Amino acid sequence: TSKPQDEMIQGHELAAKLYHHILTLTEEGKIGLEYAKKRGFTKEQIEHFQIGVVPDRWDTLVTIFKKRNYTLTQMVKAGLLGRRESDGEYYDRFRNRLMFPIWNSQGKTIGFNARSLGDENPKYLNSSETPIFQKGQTLYAFHLARSSIRKANSALLFEGAVDVIAAWGAGIHHAIATLGTALTDEQARRIRRNAETVTICYDSDRAGIDAAFRAATILENAGCIVKVAVMPEGLDPDDFIKKFGAERFKNDVIGASLTVMAFKMRFLRKGRNLNDENERIQYIEDVLKEVSTLPRAIERDHYVRQLADEFSLSLDALKQEQFRIYREKK
Ligand code: UTP
Ligand code: MN
Ligand code: MN
Ligand code: MN
Ligand code: MN
Repeated sequence: TSKPQDEMIQGHELAAKLYHHILTLTEEGKIGLEYAKKRGFTKEQIEHFQIGVVPDRWDTLVTIFKKRNYTLTQMVKAGLLGRRESDGEYYDRFRNRLMFPIWNSQGKTIGFNARSLGDENPKYLNSSETPIFQKGQTLYAFHLARSSIRKANSALLFEGAVDVIAAWGAGIHHAIATLGTALTDEQARRIRRNAETVTICYDSDRAGIDAAFRAATILENAGCIVKVAVMPEGLDPDDFIKKFGAERFKNDVIGASLTVMAFKMRFLRKGRNLNDENERIQYIEDVLKEVSTLPRAIERDHYVRQLADEFSLSLDALKQEQFRIYREKK
């Protein structure tokens, strides 16, 4: 890497160290530490993920960068500082937030995921795209999880850093996150190079379900075997672990993950009364449509048989119908 990029990374490493120091060892960090404890983060989690806090001031980083002779314009380009138009003065971009460092695959800090300490909006602030941080190429905690992912030949994919941290506390070490953005092909290929199976475990809200469908397609295109974990409505993985504990998360959520097709079927069922003949037929049509998009004949056959069993239909009729849908699409 070139010199300016090295300095940007150094600036991030220094910031992460300082934020962590403030959180764990100073009076100024007490509010942050209380918030972290209220969220259930243990000392081990705070250390492993180098969680920190940035105080409610405009000059936490400005002061230390000046003292250490950093090139402030580079720190602006790195997304850590801003510069006021009126008088050219520098200021901290992140203020009054719990700070989760985001690392590159070598474990160097390249950005931050920053959570407000209260209800201030936006709740989460990510570093902007910079020469050292491209969201679409980064997976949160990848370098920490890599050996576990390889050992398990499987990765667990969350939306948020907090979910990864909660899972780690529950003894689940092969978890990574996309940090609230859509999964990219590049991220999917990175995962595939390290594991064959991926379990998507997104929030159970509408946004999470839609994102899970999209991520599933991208991961399958990258050659992954995809499963989808389903959580009770209104909970995310962090909420679930806090509410029901590690064992139930492992058994009832991760252990009960569905194939993508089963997840789709579950979704298509929602809000439909399958005792009503018309709704039932519509459901069966919708499932057949999905089934006809599956690339492997064995899989298509499996789900068609399942439908035939569940609704006591003739396999022949279903296959004919499926064949019709399949041809229509061509
Ligand atoms: P959510 O919006 O589901 O956060 O975003 P949440 O679970 O309600 O937040 P908490 O529990 O109150 O703290 C899911 C994850 O996506 C990332 C965050 O890491 C968050 O944990 N995210 C979300 C961003 O990075 N940026 C955003 O703008 C939004
Ligand atoms: Mn420490
Ligand atoms: Mn959500
Ligand atoms: Mn949450
Ligand atoms: Mn969430």
